[in-house]
Amino acid sequence: MSDRQKFIDSLLGKMTLQEKVGQLNLYNGTWEFTGPVPEDDDSQRKSENIKRGLVGGMLNVLTAAGTREAQHLAVAHSRLGIPLLFGYDVIHGYKTMAPIPLAQAASWDPQVARKCAKLAALEASASGINWTFAPMIDITRDPRWGRMMEGPGEDPYLGSVMAEAWVRGFQGDDLSRTDTIAACAKHFAAYGFSEAGRDYNTVDIGHSTLYNIVLPPFKAAARADVATFMNGFNELNGIPVTGSEFLQRQILKESWQWEGFVVSDWASIAEMITHGYARDLQDAAKKALSAGCDMDMESKAYEKHLDQLVVEGRMDQTLLDDAVRRILQVKYDLGLFKDPYRYCDPQREQSSILTGENLAVSREAARKSIVLLKNENQLLPLPKNEIKIGVIGSLAQDKDIPLGSWRAQAEQNSAVSLLEGLKALTGPENIRFAEGYKLTRGDRSFLYELDMVEEDESGFDEAVEMAQNCDLVVMAMGEDCWQTGEGRSQTDIGLKGSQTALLSRILAVNQKVVVIMMSGRSLAITEVAEAVPALLQVWHLGSEAGHAMAEVIFGDYNPSGKLPVSFPRHGGQVPVYYNHKNTGRPTTNPHDDGMVFWSHYTDCENSPLFPFGYGLSYSKFEYADFQLSADRIRSGESIKATVKLKNSGPFDGEEVVQLYIRDHVASVTRPVKELKDFQKVFLVAGQEQTITFEISEETLCFYDNQGNLICEPGEFTIMVGGCSLQLLKQMLSYEVV
Ligand code: GLC
Repeated sequence: MSDRQKFIDSLLGKMTLQEKVGQLNLYNGTWEFTGPVPEDDDSQRKSENIKRGLVGGMLNVLTAAGTREAQHLAVAHSRLGIPLLFGYDVIHGYKTMAPIPLAQAASWDPQVARKCAKLAALEASASGINWTFAPMIDITRDPRWGRMMEGPGEDPYLGSVMAEAWVRGFQGDDLSRTDTIAACAKHFAAYGFSEAGRDYNTVDIGHSTLYNIVLPPFKAAARADVATFMNGFNELNGIPVTGSEFLQRQILKESWQWEGFVVSDWASIAEMITHGYARDLQDAAKKALSAGCDMDMESKAYEKHLDQLVVEGRMDQTLLDDAVRRILQVKYDLGLFKDPYRYCDPQREQSSILTGENLAVSREAARKSIVLLKNENQLLPLPKNEIKIGVIGSLAQDKDIPLGSWRAQAEQNSAVSLLEGLKALTGPENIRFAEGYKLTRGDRSFLYELDMVEEDESGFDEAVEMAQNCDLVVMAMGEDCWQTGEGRSQTDIGLKGSQTALLSRILAVNQKVVVIMMSGRSLAITEVAEAVPALLQVWHLGSEAGHAMAEVIFGDYNPSGKLPVSFPRHGGQVPVYYNHKNTGRPTTNPHDDGMVFWSHYTDCENSPLFPFGYGLSYSKFEYADFQLSADRIRSGESIKATVKLKNSGPFDGEEVVQLYIRDHVASVTRPVKELKDFQKVFLVAGQEQTITFEISEETLCFYDNQGNLICEPGEFTIMVGGCSLQLLKQMLSYEVV
């Protein structure tokens, strides 16, 4: 038996029933609320319970000093001195903000994602945090949902690669190091499929979507030894996921043999009453723990009812012991029993945060997350001199919005704005600025509704006059970061306010307009994309946003990002995604007979405005000579797929070579294509390289409706290219012998 198990067995044997229940309690600190404030929030009572050893962890308790104070209450006053976990939403940074996770996914670079998570862990752990409620790995196809910004996009394979990279970035190779923290794969599961894109709404999906689209990133996180999972607010097919034994025990703890602990989302145990799944809080406590929810965030259900349920024999004590053991194991792995104050070091807090090195990590991630969507006549990159640039838009000078939603402890207005970034690279004498439009008025916060400015053209004349007298315009458009994130669903995913009207006025006097699109979701931007010659999708890029954007605009960095989500032509197309089914009447009319009886809209093309995996470069990347080493494989065999990639210049640059498959006939219908591998490669201008992928059964398999991973004999199309729509193809047969 390992030292860890001996220690935990010994400790468990000493614990009273109340102390065991205490470990399942996660209290919110009084510093910050990230959910509805509980009526009975009472700091004094919480402190008393910590001293009595009746609390397992705290969330939103911040700073080395603050966590040390709370830790002292637990360690020095309670009978067994079991240390607390300190959890916080460190999603894409603690003080140094990296790009939002959706932007990191757009880099298609797991090393970028891992570095961002590692940076977040470095700064959070220096401030007493030893557990983050990240990565959020909810696949979603619905940009109406505000939390699209927080996850890896629409694809399960890219989502799995990002999930593993984020987990390994937060946790490192050794969870006991003081610069690593426990990660938390969330929200388990299917929150990204909330009906109508409305937050907290019902989820009702089939098992094929659950197993093939939703679960793979969570399985990747479990395989990467993520320390914890978080369930969620939504129900899945009639069962609130907090009370889902199918998800938390059958799949996660039994089938995947995962040994960490599951924490509820904010009061989601109590919300099972509101869902109509639990009669009262005691019933909710019983249902949640029985289903495998180990820790209770802020509903107090376990604190109030578990001991009585056990004493009365209505709750199996072994389930309680299993939950306690899982929680103690994470504390042990973090090294908290050896030194409970190891994360509470004010000196490290001073020296490790917002350093130049940290900002450099954020800047590298930001430049690699930018996606070039249009560049007619190579308008970009811009020359740095002998050009007068008119910069337009409130978003261009905004130093807060680039920090994104879920920004932890970032100082307000601490980002480098686009305007600052441009001036830093070209000199202020070459730059003019006019605000042109405002997005919001009054105070902004992550808690309360924004006061959006609807139609205000008061700034138009100044902006138009400036545009008329400049060589070229750089116009920042998009959305406020607080239009995205939790509780920020929108029915209209177009551009708010008067920004589009202003663009029309600008184009009337100057055709050379580069639009910089800042958003946390795939906005419906058809009118803009059709009107301007150059368009960069820059998301919300974090602390170094302006520098990264300027480096791309002036060509110091050749953009290499690819879209992790499809961009719809119109909000009414949602959900539109690349790995759709063929249907019985496919989305490309096979008959061209003018009849209407096929899967289409009468008022819009079926295809997205910009497809998944799409992104241009300042260079031209050419694919040729795609080959398979054999046109058939048998079970247990693998073959090579090779393609020649040439950077035809004029710039050095990176390309994301993507490999897709199509399984033409199967026992469960398969998508018209599925991403199964990719490589991001750097080629100097003029260089050609052969890119090689290995194809085996693993590449060709899928989950059946019972969750079995299977590979069925038949014909497959293997595809490769720089986007999900422009692909070279070869046929492959798979035989079972
Ligand atoms: C929020 C979110 C969850 C977060 C938790 C703690 O409601 O749903 O993602 O980790 O509460 O802040």
